[in-house]
Amino acid sequence: MNQTSDNLKEYAVWDSSVRWFHWINALAIIGLIAVGTVILNGKAIGVSGEGKVLLKTVHVYIGYVFCLNILWRLIVAFVASNRFSRWGAILPMGVGFSGYIKGAKSGYLPAYLGHNPIARFMVSLLFAVLLIMAVTGIVLAGTDVYMPPLGTFFADWVTGGDTEKLAQLVPGSKEFVDKELYSEMRDFRKPFITLHYYVFFVLLAVVVLHIAAVVVAEQREKNGLISAMFTGRKVFSEKPVDLEN
Ligand code: HEM
Repeated sequence: MNQTSDNLKEYAVWDSSVRWFHWINALAIIGLIAVGTVILNGKAIGVSGEGKVLLKTVHVYIGYVFCLNILWRLIVAFVASNRFSRWGAILPMGVGFSGYIKGAKSGYLPAYLGHNPIARFMVSLLFAVLLIMAVTGIVLAGTDVYMPPLGTFFADWVTGGDTEKLAQLVPGSKEFVDKELYSEMRDFRKPFITLHYYVFFVLLAVVVLHIAAVVVAEQREKNGLISAMFTGRKVFSEKPVDLEN
């Protein structure tokens, strides 16, 4: 904790692993949304079959960065020495959620060192949505463009393990597949594409809500919430609530 010139006290909150995760995640999501939206409207804007495979391949490469970054963050949440990076600082259970709502209704909103109870709910929801996109995306990458880690498994499935067909198999094409096995594989894939499609819209809503909440909190609390995701430090004029202690 440092005393600043305006009688504000500065507290180190977010460590570098959380900050790197946050910005890599934000950039990857922007890329995935952008390319995903083009894939979604491919027919309407006249993207060719080859163009669609290229778009999906680019989308999957960005997806790998996104998945590895999330995996890294999930591990950090178990092992970090910084208490603000751990599950105990993220999950919304047992942190006086209803008390916070009651306080908010009566105009009493204390400043929190880490996430406030609503922010914990928001961040947990974001993690859940991102994990659904990651898992469904990895399955889709295997089924459609036969990319790792599941591509070989799906390629074997649709060719029945026939080495000649396997050698000629083309991503995004129905040539050289066994029609019945391919149709079985498509049935298996259906719930994954359906989830990927609908949760994409949920993600858009949650991202908008997240940005709006951060801007409102920054204006109301003036704790340097946004710059803290660059510097790691928040500032307070009075002692903040420390849920993680
Ligand atoms: C924030 C994360 C993500 C967002 C917002 C996103 C968004 C989208 C959207 C909007 C589509 C088009 C859906 C459709 O055509 O019905 C799509 C398709 C696809 N996504 Fe993602 N995606 C994400 C993560 C991933 C990841 C992590 C992977 C794999 C590593 C992935 C792989 C795919 C594939 C292969 C398709 C094509 C599916 C098809 O055959 O139509 N996505 N994604």
